Amino acid sequence: MKKIISVVGARPNYMKVAPIHRAFQKYSKEITHLICHTGQHYDVNMSKIFFEELELPEPHFYLGVGSGSHSEQTAKIMIEFEKVLLNEKPDLVIVVGDVNSTIACSLVAVKLGIKVAHVEAGLRSFDRSMPEEINRLLTDQIADYLFVTEKSGIENLKNEGIPDEKIFFVGNTMSDSLVYYLPKIDKSQILNELNLLNEKYVVVTLHRPSNVDKSENLIRIFEEFKKIAEKYKIVFPIHPRTKKVLQSSGYDYSHPNFLIVDPIGYISFIKLVKNSIAVITDSGGIQEETTFLKIPCLTLRDNTERPITAELGTNKLIGTQYDKIALEFFKYLNSLKTDSTIPPLWDGKAAERITAKLVELLK
Ligand code: UD1
Repeated sequence: MKKIISVVGARPNYMKVAPIHRAFQKYSKEITHLICHTGQHYDVNMSKIFFEELELPEPHFYLGVGSGSHSEQTAKIMIEFEKVLLNEKPDLVIVVGDVNSTIACSLVAVKLGIKVAHVEAGLRSFDRSMPEEINRLLTDQIADYLFVTEKSGIENLKNEGIPDEKIFFVGNTMSDSLVYYLPKIDKSQILNELNLLNEKYVVVTLHRPSNVDKSENLIRIFEEFKKIAEKYKIVFPIHPRTKKVLQSSGYDYSHPNFLIVDPIGYISFIKLVKNSIAVITDSGGIQEETTFLKIPCLTLRDNTERPITAELGTNKLIGTQYDKIALEFFKYLNSLKTDSTIPPLWDGKAAERITAKLVELLK
């Protein structure tokens, strides 16, 4: 029997690990698959609700590290995760995405001589001021098996000298979750609950430090949202980080067409996106989810590590000239391309490919 531990830490990790956990059930005679939650995100609506909705088991290990500076958080995860690995002696650790938990746990495992698989490898924004870019670069350098979601990932890894035999183009586990949960998403009552039935609305999410940590930037962004709100409702499930800055800014962000709510679970959130007129975001994963659902997405960033979403999908980078958000928004809606496509292998079967390959590699 081989033992594998998958790591989750922050909100964008859960929907990537859920399909992997499900796919491993098929191999339950050969593989014990366990989940370790680092506790990087800990609020109920940043964590627990996702476990329930995604039908994930209670994490087998919970490290409870919480917030802190990057070094503090990363170091705490390392100290606690090392104890788990020393006790459990797994054959493999799976990390996903690009959060601090991803690099912290990879580093611990590799130093203990335990193999590491990185799911969502090879994505690059080429912007090293983004903490996630550092996490991606370093994780990919030390991981043993690199599972790639889009073709840019293969090129990036090759350019960084990663040998071909470590790279596996498998598609996107995030879209596995979309495919699997779609029936449940369609039944969600969130539109009724928020009184949005038959309304035209825009979904907003913002949490990237470069956009939200300075209150003057956030205020400029909200001034633009007021212009958009003349025509559409703005539904904004607000990240704790963004909420703190907004509340301490003293800015009056009340508006009859703003619906600012606490972060919401996966099923309700995707339902909101699926029925929206467009999404404005600075998230990575939401660029992919909107591409899969063919919902127009305006990304408030100068670069993306997921170029396929702009090439084939519905994503448009509008940069960070905040005073132009409303202008860009209306321009984009008026010139929507109708030929967006779902990228190759985003077919709901990525986790099956990943688990099959890992079972073979561990033999
Ligand atoms: C993290 C990830 C980011 C990901 C995002 C998704 C890193 C470097 N960043 O950013 O890539 O897109 O998660 O949400 O790993 N907080 C709470 N409750 C929580 C979690 C956070 O109140 O459950 C607050 C804390 O004040 C904390 C702040 O949010 O200091 C930021 O949390 P942190 O985990 O450091 O980074 P995120 O901005 O969430």
